Amino acid sequence: MTVLVVVLMTASLSGLGSAAQAAPGHNGPPYAAGEPGSGDEYFPYAGNGGYDVLHYDLDLRYAPPSDPAVLQGNLSGVATVTLRATEELGTLNFDLRGLEVTAVSVDGTGAKEAKSHDGGASEWWQVQEDANRVWELTIGLRPELEAGQVATIVVEYGGVTGRPTDTTGALYGWVTTADGALVVNEPDGASTWYPVNDDPEDKATYTFAIAVPEGKTAVANGLPVGRPRTKAGWTTWTWEAADPMASYLSTASVGDFVLSYDTGPRRLPIINAIDADVAGQALVDTNAALALQPDMISFLEKLFGRYPFEAFGAIVDDDSVDYALEAQTRPVYSGVADGATVVHELAHQWFGNAVSPADWQHIWLNEGWATYVEWLWAEHRRTSTVARQFANTVESLDSNKRWGLDITDPGRDNLFVAQIYQRGAAALHALRVKVGDEAFFEGAGLWLTRYDDSSATTGDFQAVMEEASGEELDNFFNTWLRAPVRPVEIPQP
Ligand code: ARG
Ligand code: ZN
Repeated sequence: MTVLVVVLMTASLSGLGSAAQAAPGHNGPPYAAGEPGSGDEYFPYAGNGGYDVLHYDLDLRYAPPSDPAVLQGNLSGVATVTLRATEELGTLNFDLRGLEVTAVSVDGTGAKEAKSHDGGASEWWQVQEDANRVWELTIGLRPELEAGQVATIVVEYGGVTGRPTDTTGALYGWVTTADGALVVNEPDGASTWYPVNDDPEDKATYTFAIAVPEGKTAVANGLPVGRPRTKAGWTTWTWEAADPMASYLSTASVGDFVLSYDTGPRRLPIINAIDADVAGQALVDTNAALALQPDMISFLEKLFGRYPFEAFGAIVDDDSVDYALEAQTRPVYSGVADGATVVHELAHQWFGNAVSPADWQHIWLNEGWATYVEWLWAEHRRTSTVARQFANTVESLDSNKRWGLDITDPGRDNLFVAQIYQRGAAALHALRVKVGDEAFFEGAGLWLTRYDDSSATTGDFQAVMEEASGEELDNFFNTWLRAPVRPVEIPQP
C-alpha cells in the first residue's frame, strides 16, 4: 500500500502564463516528476508522461442548471484511475481544468483519510494552470512507483460547470445546457470533467456511474450496466465502455432524453437517446437518418471489416455546439442528425476511434476518411457518384483557394477547417485511382487491423498503402497532402 498526497494549493490563476516558463507541476518537493505533457506539438500540456491508464472509473453526480437562463450546473466526481507506471515515478500529473480537487489518495488510502490528513513536506498534491489552459493536477508519490507497477489513484473533485471553449472559441468539453449537459471533448476537452491523461495514444476502458435528478437521463459510451437506480430523488445511470477508448471520445451527456433500444447487424445493440425537445422537421429528419444506421453499419462492414465496438447509436441533444462528434459507440449530434453526418460519424468508429491519430497534426486521417465515406455512401444510395463529389470538391478547393494548407501539419487552430475534410477526402480518392481499388481497400484493411485499438501517423498510413500497392508514394503524399498548390494531375472520372 502506497500512501500519500494531500494539501491543496489552489489553482493559481495568474503568473504561470507563458510557455517560456518552466513547465508546471515541478515546484513541489524534488521528486522525479512525470512529464506534464505527452509530446503533442499542438497541445504540449495535454496528456502526461510516465504512465499508461488502464481504466477510468468515473462516479459523477450532476445537477443541471436550476435556472435555465443561467447555464451553470454542479458537478462532483470521484475518479478512480487505474494506471501502470512506465518509468519510475515520484510524481504524476493529470489534466483537470476548472474544477476543484478536494482529496486525492493513492492505492486504496481512503480518500476520506487523505482529506483529513494535514499533509507534510513529503505528502502533497497541487493544481496549477498552464500556458495552454490545461490545468495540471500533480500528485506526489511516496514511496515512488516503480516502472511497471500498477497503482490506483482516487481523485475527489467538483465545481460549477459552464460552457468551456477550445482554442478556436468552439464550445466543447462539459457544455452545460438548459436541461443537462452536452459532452464532446475533441481535441482536449476531457479535462473539463475528469482528471485524465488526455492523449489519444493512451486509450483505456471506462465505467461511468452518473447520478442525476430523478427524471433526467445520463448517457455515456458503451452499454448500460443494470437498470438505472433511484434513491432519494437521484437516479444513477451506469455505463461500461469495454473497448479501449481515447479520452476525446468519452461522453456522459445529461438531458431529457428518450432512450430506445434495438439490435442491428450481428445483433449489435443499438441505443439511441433523443432529447424530448427535438421536434418538428428536425425530429423527422433525425429519425429518418438514425433508422439508416443498421444499413450504414452493414455497408461499412463490407468495405472495412467488422464494426470495432460493442454497440452503436446516437445522442441527439436539442442544444447546439454547431457540430457533431463521433463519441465512441454513441456519436453526439446537436439539434438534428442528418444522413450524411450520421454516416460520417459512424465511419469515424473505424477511422478515428478504432485507429486514432497519434498526434493531433494527423487529424486529416480522421476527417478525410469520414468525408470520403460520405461520398461512398451517397454513391451506394445512388444520390451521387464518388467521381462527381471528387470533381465538386476539387472545384471547391480551387474556387476557395484552399490548396495552400499542408493538411499533415495544419496548425493547432486548423484541425477542423474545410481543407482537412475536403483535401483529405480528395487525396484518398486520388490515391484509390492511382493504386487501384484492390490495393486501396487492402491498404485500408491493413491500416485498420495493424493499428486497431491503437493510434498512428500519416507516415504509418503511407507505409501500409505502399505495402498494399507495392508503389513508392512519397511524391504522391507530398503532392496531395502537403504541397501548397493544386496537384498538376487531377484524375478524371
Ligand atoms: N470530429 C468532428 C467531426 O465529426 C468535428 C469536431 C469539431 N470540433 C470542434 N471543436 N470544432 O467532424
Ligand atoms: Zn469528422
